[in-house]
Amino acid sequence: MGWNSWNFFAEKVTDKDIRGAADSLVATGMKDAGYVYINIDDTWEAERDSTGLLHTNAKFPDMKALADYVHSKGLKIGIYSGPGNKTCGGYAASLGHEEQDAKMYADWGIDYLKYDLCSFIPDVMEKQAPNDKAAQMRIMIAAYDKMSKALKATGRPIVFSLCQYGWDAPWEWAPALGGNLWRTTGDVSPDWDRIAVIGFSQAGLEKYAGPGHWNDPDMLEVGNGKLTMAENRSHFTLWAMLAAPLLAGNDLTTMKPEVKAILTNKDVIAIDQDALGKQGTRAYAEGEVEVWSRHLSGGALAVSIINTADTGRYSTHPFHLDLAKLGLHGPQKGKDLWTGKPIELTENMPILLDTHDVLLVRIDAPK
Ligand code: GLA
Repeated sequence: MGWNSWNFFAEKVTDKDIRGAADSLVATGMKDAGYVYINIDDTWEAERDSTGLLHTNAKFPDMKALADYVHSKGLKIGIYSGPGNKTCGGYAASLGHEEQDAKMYADWGIDYLKYDLCSFIPDVMEKQAPNDKAAQMRIMIAAYDKMSKALKATGRPIVFSLCQYGWDAPWEWAPALGGNLWRTTGDVSPDWDRIAVIGFSQAGLEKYAGPGHWNDPDMLEVGNGKLTMAENRSHFTLWAMLAAPLLAGNDLTTMKPEVKAILTNKDVIAIDQDALGKQGTRAYAEGEVEVWSRHLSGGALAVSIINTADTGRYSTHPFHLDLAKLGLHGPQKGKDLWTGKPIELTENMPILLDTHDVLLVRIDAPK
């Protein structure tokens, strides 16, 4: 759990924004809710000097001092690079300098690296193995393995986040090379349709996630763009059901109270962070209603019901819950995690949800 600069600041991010995010993570109670990492995404890089050492650009005058500042708040700090010559933003990346960069990150006190494929495709994969997809895949895996080994050789624990947009099933090979999380999709955007496509496409990947190695359906857009509060709730719910990394991506310094309430909902965070680490999946979909469930430690069950219909209030309704499709029998006592109130789920009960809104229920003793 943490925060990443890309979704809100993109290429404009500065040292000041990172400090502001760290301050706000603490001041807003997000740190207390479990958010730990402050991750700098692309555009911090300048050029290499004659020794190959990569320098930071004017937006980041002193990375070691920035890392010290973030650490002084009891937080951890992440950074970004890639295996090619250039990052996605066109800045210097790590090709041929993997050990040197890893050592520099460790010297600065970096705790997390997001490693983004981008120019490695034309720079290396397509050059070394034109028209040979299988060979290109082997080259890509070797590049991620190289950085993973370079990070390990520093002796500093550094979370390794693979960003290659879910191509070539990273869930099958990333854990073995020490990947802690791997993107499963292309980029998210602050738009309900994109969030829904990404989130609901994760069904089937649940068997690859577990403690220490997670599917990453990209960072949170909660509080960004024109997302409604219902959409923010549904987005956060779905990511929690998916045991996804929760990397907030909004401007924490101007966050509205209702957005903060979503990002710091302790019950929903507890679903995401459940110790069993079992990713949830689709129980069934009916019309435009998606019903997902997630097994939790202690035998508990989380059930989310999301109304994906675009127009009109309650446009897909009445929707009647089918408990048998959730493996449940008879009335189930639970807690509605968005109202905080007790709720009983009964066979065939009608559930009214506004457009793109969600009901999330935790059942401690499902029957
Ligand atoms: C890619 C990644 C994004 C972000 C940008 C930065 O698009 O998928 O998450 O890191 O690059 O340039």
